[in-house]
Amino acid sequence: MDARRRYPSVWYLEQQARRRVPRFCWEYLAGGGGRGGAVQRNRAMLDAIRFVPRLLGDAADRPQLGTTLMGRRYDAPFGVAPIGLGGLVWPRAAEHLAASARHQNLPFVMSCYATVAMERIAQIAPEHAWFQLYAFHQPEIDRAIVGRAEQAGFEVLVVTVDLPTATRRPHDARNGLSVPPAMDAENLLQMMVRPRWALAMLAAGVPRFHTLLPHLPAGLSMAELGTRLAQMHEGHMTLEHLKALRDLWPRKLVVKGLYHPADVADCRAIGADAVVMSNHGGRHLEGVPSAIELLHAARAELGGMALIADGGVRSGLDVARYAAAGADFVLCGRAFMFGVAAMGARGGDHVGDLLKAELHQAMAHVGAPTLGDLAAGLHRNGD
Ligand SMILES: Cc1cc2nc3c(=O)[nH]c(=O)nc-3n(C[C@H](O)[C@H](O)[C@H](O)COP(=O)(O)O)c2cc1C
Repeated sequence: MDARRRYPSVWYLEQQARRRVPRFCWEYLAGGGGRGGAVQRNRAMLDAIRFVPRLLGDAADRPQLGTTLMGRRYDAPFGVAPIGLGGLVWPRAAEHLAASARHQNLPFVMSCYATVAMERIAQIAPEHAWFQLYAFHQPEIDRAIVGRAEQAGFEVLVVTVDLPTATRRPHDARNGLSVPPAMDAENLLQMMVRPRWALAMLAAGVPRFHTLLPHLPAGLSMAELGTRLAQMHEGHMTLEHLKALRDLWPRKLVVKGLYHPADVADCRAIGADAVVMSNHGGRHLEGVPSAIELLHAARAELGGMALIADGGVRSGLDVARYAAAGADFVLCGRAFMFGVAAMGARGGDHVGDLLKAELHQAMAHVGAPTLGDLAAGLHRNGD
């Protein structure tokens, strides 16, 4: 059956993805911090944003979805968010999504915890791939990885700063989540009832953190690896450290995972090109606002930086909501992963097509010929 008929929205892809992925991997992808309150809030805040369509006049018959971000033209104002361990959710997820981003003329942000080497992603999507880093305590590791990213040809470095301390998600702890997956009886059973996943995983090989392998001692047990990684990252990102990364990286620099306007001002001060307001898809601290609630305050501190945001996007209407609330661009994490888990290599393209079509529809209904016109269509209580 044609994909548009079988999966007419991301919601259908999500249902199918859930049927194809072992439960411990599904909970890793879909779950949030604590009891999932911030995941729910991301959705609730988006659902609360409504538009008042302007129907007379023909100005919005052909809405313009394309946008320029940090000097580059993209076909729509959204891209693929970095997902660590994506290869556990669906084998070769990062490779598939990088290829889709290139077809769709959208950015793909590769996580340093993707289960693929950064050079491979740069080959697949030379002009569309951005590289995301969690900074290390050891400056020599930062230097080595940033140097490799420059050499590989990435145009954008995204430094994620929202992990001041290790997050322990209750469901992942219960599932004993590890890389490669632990072969205990419970997990084996979950894999056996997902034969397509198991076969694809066999073909792709055991997921490993290929980009970081040179910096990890060989032969560590999983528990030792976890402790080692936590030690390598633990602690707040200092402004000096961020400035050092700015000095190291000659191309566009994006800082991801901000909430506070004072942090946005600091990013401006060190010369960042963009910030990503993000609560990490609701996966860290449960009691935080949604990025969409923070855009107004962030905008006031932006200077010349671009304002990117993420969290909860499952449709083109959600992209329109973020744009109306002040974002220049949005990232979508789980939506693209649902596509790949449901459809494999073609899933990312299908999600890109769906979001573009839905965004087009939303803009046409609202009567917004450009993304910048969406804000005027917002329904404001009391108007
Ligand atoms: C399974 C998973 C792994 C993630 N890994 C990373 C990561 O390695 N680096 C990072 O900066 N953000 C990571 N994120 C956060 C996403 O980049 C993004 O902020 C979030 O998924 C947006 O919310 P959404 O999934 O509702 O679109 C991860 C998110 C998920 C769901």
